Amino acid sequence: MVTRIPKQFFDLISPLYDFLIRDNPTSKIIDALDLTGQEKVLEIGAGTGRSIASIISLARQVWLLDPSQPMLQQAKQKFPTAKPVLGYAEQLPFEGVYFDRVIVIDSLHHWDDQLKGLKEIERVLEPKQGLSIVVEFDPSRPLGHYIKSMEKFFWMGSKFFTTIEMRKMHRKANLHIIRQAYVDEGTYITISKKK
Ligand SMILES: C[S@@+](CC[C@H](N)C(=O)[O-])C[C@H]1O[C@@H](n2cnc3c(N)ncnc32)[C@H](O)[C@@H]1O
Repeated sequence: MVTRIPKQFFDLISPLYDFLIRDNPTSKIIDALDLTGQEKVLEIGAGTGRSIASIISLARQVWLLDPSQPMLQQAKQKFPTAKPVLGYAEQLPFEGVYFDRVIVIDSLHHWDDQLKGLKEIERVLEPKQGLSIVVEFDPSRPLGHYIKSMEKFFWMGSKFFTTIEMRKMHRKANLHIIRQAYVDEGTYITISKKK
C-alpha cells in the first residue's frame, strides 16, 4: 500500500524543498486565477507554500492544506496570514465552507485517490463563481515522462494523467471543464467549475 509514502517523503525533504525546487509555477497560471482581492483561496497539497507566494496578496484569505506537518510548518513561517490546515485531499476537513478558488499545483499525482479528491473539491467549491485549477504534468510529453520516471525511481507511487484522462476524471467528479491548456512544454492546467 503506497498510502503514506509521499507524506513521509515530503516530511523528510521539507528542509531542502525550496532549495531544490526553485521555479515559481504560479506565474504561469496567475491570469487563470482571475483574482480580484475578494476571493477565499484553498491550495491543496500546498507544501512549503512555494506556489502561493504570488497569490497571497491578491486574495482575501488563503488556506494551505497538506498532510505533511514539516512542509506546512515552513509555509506557516513564510506566510503567517495564511491558514495552515493538516489534511488530505481525499477528506477535506471543511463543512459548510466554500472556496472561490481551489488550486492544486504539482500535488494531484501524489494523492492516493484522485477521483475522491476531485469530488471533495467539487463539494467545497463556491457554487456560482467557484473555480478549480489543477496543474499537472502530462506523462505523454517528454517533461512529464521524465518526472514520472524519476518519481517511479524514488518509489513514490505517483499517478500521472493525460489531458484526456484528466477531463474524464473531472467529469466523473461532476466538475465542468472551462478550459484546458499547456502552460509549458509538459505541464497543463485544467480549469473547472461546479456543474
Ligand atoms: C511536489 S509537492 C508540491 C507542493 C506545492 N504545491 C508546490 O508547488 O511547491 C506535493 C505536495 O502534495 C502533498 N500531498 C501528498 N499527498 C497528498 C494528499 N493525499 N492530499 C493533499 N496533499 C498531498 C505533499 O505532502 C506535498 O507537500
